[in-house]
Amino acid sequence: MKNGPIGIFDSGVGGTSIWNEIQKLLPQEDTVYLADSKNAPYGEKSSAEILQLSIKNTKLLLDKGAKIIVVACNTATTNAIGYLRKNFDVPFIGIEPAIKPAALQSRSKTVGVLATKGTLASSLFHSTSENHARGITVMEREGKGLVPLIEQGKVDSFETRELLRSYLEPMIEKGIDYLVLGCTHYPYLIPVLKELLPETVQIIDSGEAVARQTKSILERNQLLNDSPTKGFHQFYTNGNLSVLDGFIKRSSVNYKTEKSDF
Ligand code: SIN
Repeated sequence: MKNGPIGIFDSGVGGTSIWNEIQKLLPQEDTVYLADSKNAPYGEKSSAEILQLSIKNTKLLLDKGAKIIVVACNTATTNAIGYLRKNFDVPFIGIEPAIKPAALQSRSKTVGVLATKGTLASSLFHSTSENHARGITVMEREGKGLVPLIEQGKVDSFETRELLRSYLEPMIEKGIDYLVLGCTHYPYLIPVLKELLPETVQIIDSGEAVARQTKSILERNQLLNDSPTKGFHQFYTNGNLSVLDGFIKRSSVNYKTEKSDF
């Protein structure tokens, strides 16, 4: 079991931002990643549909020997992780928007959250916001249209910039000093976001925290791979293989990508 891969799934290529942090922190681990791009964006689907897709992805990862599963998608986490934890016999790590650190550190007491409709509508998001951001104005904004653009590899296109500009302007006007990225696709927008936001606004995403959490859960369950060699990384997509390749190539790891009909 220890030598099994870490399973990771997302509604597409965005979760590779989480995978990247995991492979940096745990270089000896093998990983298997499912990019369910055919069904992206999850954020526009009903909670029941998101749950069914999450179950399908979990079963596929278990068939591939996953010893732990990282739900590298905020929308799937907020809508399905409770069910997955109750019904499958491996540990699950989820991604929640990092509202807590933003609320704790904010001086202007106003933070922005950019996330999908499915995440913003979920009860898990609301309870996180209520529990960790008391006395803070949280400006929620749906990043409608961003995931499909990133799925096409358009992280720095005119359309992407214009959408971002329209989403950020009201937040900037209200004086946010933290912007929480509540979707694993969005870290790929950080270079553009930095150009559009005033220097006083910090951007927070969950990637490093999720990698640390994955390590600690593996340790706690005695599932850390103690092999001295570097891990191997398998990526499966039911969408565009060359777009996925473009996101992985940035890191120097041993990997294969494959188009698959799941
Ligand atoms: C989506 O598929 O809508 C985005 C995935 C996420 O919430 O991280």
